[in-house]
This record gives sequence, C-alpha cells and structure tokens, in this order.
Amino acid sequence: MKSSKLSRRKFLAATSLGSLGLISASQGIGQTLLSVCRATPRQTEGPFYPVDDQLDKDTDLTWVEGRSERATGQIIYVEGVVMDPNCQPIEGALVEIWQACESGRYNHPGDRENPAPLDPNFQYWGRALSDREGKYLFKTIVPGSYPAGPDWIRPSHIHFKIQKRGFLELITQMYFAGDPLNDKDLILQRLSQENQRSVIVELNEPTSDHEPGSKVCRFNITLRRA
Ligand SMILES: [Fe+2]
Repeated sequence: MKSSKLSRRKFLAATSLGSLGLISASQGIGQTLLSVCRATPRQTEGPFYPVDDQLDKDTDLTWVEGRSERATGQIIYVEGVVMDPNCQPIEGALVEIWQACESGRYNHPGDRENPAPLDPNFQYWGRALSDREGKYLFKTIVPGSYPAGPDWIRPSHIHFKIQKRGFLELITQMYFAGDPLNDKDLILQRLSQENQRSVIVELNEPTSDHEPGSKVCRFNITLRRA
C-alpha cells in the first residue's frame, strides 16, 4: 500500500558541514564564525514543466492514487536540506520535482512524439514543503535518459523548482554520479566543474529507514536572497 508519509527519522543525521557546501567558516580569532554556502546553480527549466494539474502530487512518485500497481524502475529516496546563503535551514520552501519515467518519457503534451511508453503507475511530478530543519524528502525512481537532439541524449536527471518568499526562485536539475552521459550533456557541461559537482549526487545504500533494495541520494539546495 502507498504510505502517505515517508519516514524522516534519522533523515540526514549524518549530514556533514562539508556536504552542505560550506565554503568558508571563519573570519579569524575573536571574530564571529561566518558560514557561507555556495548558491545552487541555475539550469534551464526545459520544455516539460507540468502543465496539467493532477490529483496525486505528494512526495511519493512511485505510487499513483487509485492504481493497484507501482511504477517501474529503481526506487530512490531524494533527501536534502534547503538553506540560505549562511547555511541556515529554510522552513516552508516549496520544492517541486518533475522527471521522466523509467523509459525516458515525460507525461507532458510536448513529449507526445517520444516513442517511449508512458508508465501509468508513475506520478511524474510531486511537491514538498521543507520542514523546520529545512529538510525535504521524495521517493521516486531513477528516470530514464532520452534523446534531446541530434547526437544528444540527456543523462538521467530530475528537475527541481524551489520557491520561498524572500529568496530568488531556483530552477535547476540533479544528475547521478557515474552516468556516462553526464560528460556529454550540453546543459550540465555549461556549468563550472565546481557547480557540476554540486548538482551530481551519489546513489548510496539504504538504511533501516528506507525500503530494502532502494537507493538514497542527498541533494542540498542553497537559495539566493531576493
Ligand atoms: Fe528533462
């Protein structure tokens, strides 16, 4: 059965300052400790931002309300913290994700010429609000790659849009370490090496808080102030 709420216990308990993108930590002896987190880089929204509302838009994309079967694909948990430029958590940020299903198809009118099949059991997009500690969590699958032009196949990626009053809206994309298509992607390769590292995540083994056989990745997000 579909769980309405994903476990958040111990979630990010092992998050280190380094993984938060801390880039400077001290102004010297006797001065206030100043943390600075590098802003998550912007990337193109692409053509497939959801245009049709859907009843089921929760944080578990692996089940669609009313369906009896589950989405196909490698189950992953995408966890992270939304932060301000001083690495402080932002509560109440709206985090939206949208992505292709396992076959590499979007549930979007602009992707109808794609011959890859839709997965009726996949939710395709979802949204979350960051909690008091800035944390958000989605359960989804690793999206398939898809052709985006002559000699260009997009690597597996998940699109993100993050909004919070007082901060600039951020649109970006998250990629998976080890995907051989990353090195040739025309969008990812526009970013500096450092920025690329900040949007490529490792797939790690699950803990007891996660479903057996799943993978877990961490994508922390830093917003710019408006
Ligand atoms: Fe895409």
